[in-house]
Amino acid sequence: MKALVYHGPGMRSWDEVPDPAIQQPTDAIVRIDSATICGTDLHILKGDVPEVQPGTILGHEAVGTVVELGDAVTTLETGDRVLVSCITSCGRCRFCKEGHYGLCTGGGGWIFGHLIDGLQAELARVPFADTSVYKVPDELSDEQVLFLADILPTSYEVGVLNGDVQPGDTVAVVGAGPIGLAAIMTAKLYTPGRIVAIDLAPARLEKALEFGADVVIDNGREDAVERVLQLTGGLGADVAIEAVGMPETFELCAELVRPGGHVANVGVHGHPATLHLEKLWIRDVTIMTGLVDTFSTPRLLELIANGRLDPTPFATHRFELDEMTEAYDTFADAASTNALKVVLTAHPAHLPAAEKAVAVTA
Ligand SMILES: NC(=O)c1ccc[n+]([C@@H]2O[C@H](COP(=O)([O-])OP(=O)(O)OC[C@H]3O[C@@H](n4cnc5c(N)ncnc54)[C@H](O)[C@@H]3O)[C@@H](O)[C@H]2O)c1
Ligand SMILES: [Zn+2]
Ligand SMILES: [Zn+2]
Repeated sequence: MKALVYHGPGMRSWDEVPDPAIQQPTDAIVRIDSATICGTDLHILKGDVPEVQPGTILGHEAVGTVVELGDAVTTLETGDRVLVSCITSCGRCRFCKEGHYGLCTGGGGWIFGHLIDGLQAELARVPFADTSVYKVPDELSDEQVLFLADILPTSYEVGVLNGDVQPGDTVAVVGAGPIGLAAIMTAKLYTPGRIVAIDLAPARLEKALEFGADVVIDNGREDAVERVLQLTGGLGADVAIEAVGMPETFELCAELVRPGGHVANVGVHGHPATLHLEKLWIRDVTIMTGLVDTFSTPRLLELIANGRLDPTPFATHRFELDEMTEAYDTFADAASTNALKVVLTAHPAHLPAAEKAVAVTA
C-alpha cells in the first residue's frame, strides 16, 4: 500500500510500504476513505516531537471502512464505516474507566502517527478497535464527521468545557487557526454574550467572523488587553482560550482574563511560559491545561447528525489520497493558501481532473 512516511526532521514522502496486518485479537484493519492533516503533523516534521521514529506513517484523523477484524472484536463488522480518532482507548486502565482516554496507560492515548503507524495511508491497523472507533451513521458524509477525529473534541473539551463557558460570558479566543475556530464554533453551543477572536493574521480574523466571532482584534496592530477591558467594563474576559502554543499568547490569556475567570490552554507548547503569580495570586483565576480525551465525540456526533453543528466549513481544500505530498505543501503554506483543513479522499472526489486540488473556497 501507499502511505505518508516520516523520514526524520524535514523529510516525508508518499511511499510504497507493506500492508498492515492484525497483530492483536483486539485490532481491526481499516481502509482509509478520508483523511486530513493536523498542525501537530507539521510540529512532528519540524522535529518538535522527538518520540516519533523515522519510518513512522503519520496521521491521526480519518474516516474509513473496516476490512478485517481480530478474533476478539465483537461490536464491529467488516464493511462498517468508522471514524478513527486521534485518541485510542484500551478501555481497561484506570484513566480509560474515568473517561480520560488521552491519558490511557494500557497502550492507547495518542498513538497514531506518533508511537505507531498512523492514518495517512491506504490501510491502517487500529488497536483496541471496540473501544476506540465510532460508527458513522449512513446519512452523514465523511466530511461531516472527519473533523471529529481531533479539532472539534479538542477545542470543545480542552477549551470550552475546561474554560467553563457559561451563557452571557465574554469568551476571548487567542489564535484563530483550526483549533481557535473550533473553539469559537463549540463555544456558541453555550450562548456566550460575546466571542472575541485575537490573531495576527487578517485572513484568520475574517474566518473567525465567519465562524461566529462577534469582535476581532489584530494584536499586531492593537492592544488586545486594552480592547477587552473596554468591552467588559474594565473587568476582563470571563474565559480566555489559548489556541496558539506560544509563551506570549499564554501570558496574554492570563492578562485578558477577569478576576475569578478561567484560562483554558489548548496550544501545544515547546518553550516555557511565565506564570505571573505575583499578579495572579489575588485574582482567583483558574488555569486549565490538557490533551484531548475525546469523551465528547458521541455528543458532538449527535449535534452534527441533528444539524446543530456543521464542521464542513473547515474543509478548504480537497485532494485525492495519493496527492498527499501536494496536500501537505498546501496545508503547510496556510499563509498564502488560506488553508484551514485539507481533505484527502481515497476515491476520485467527484471532481473533473482539472479541478482537483483546487481551493474550494478562496
Ligand atoms: N491540546 C491538544 O490536545 C491539542 C490538539 C491539537 C492541536 N493542539 C495545538 O493547538 C494549537 C493551535 O493549532 P492550530 O492547528 O489552530 O494552529 P495554527 O498554527 O493553524 O493556528 C495558530 C494561529 O495563531 C496565530 N498566532 C500566532 N502567533 C500569535 C500571536 N502572538 N497572537 C495571536 N495569534 C497568533 C496564527 O496567526 C494562527 O492563525 C497548536 O499549538 C496545536 O499543536 C492542541
Ligand atoms: Zn491533531
Ligand atoms: Zn486505557
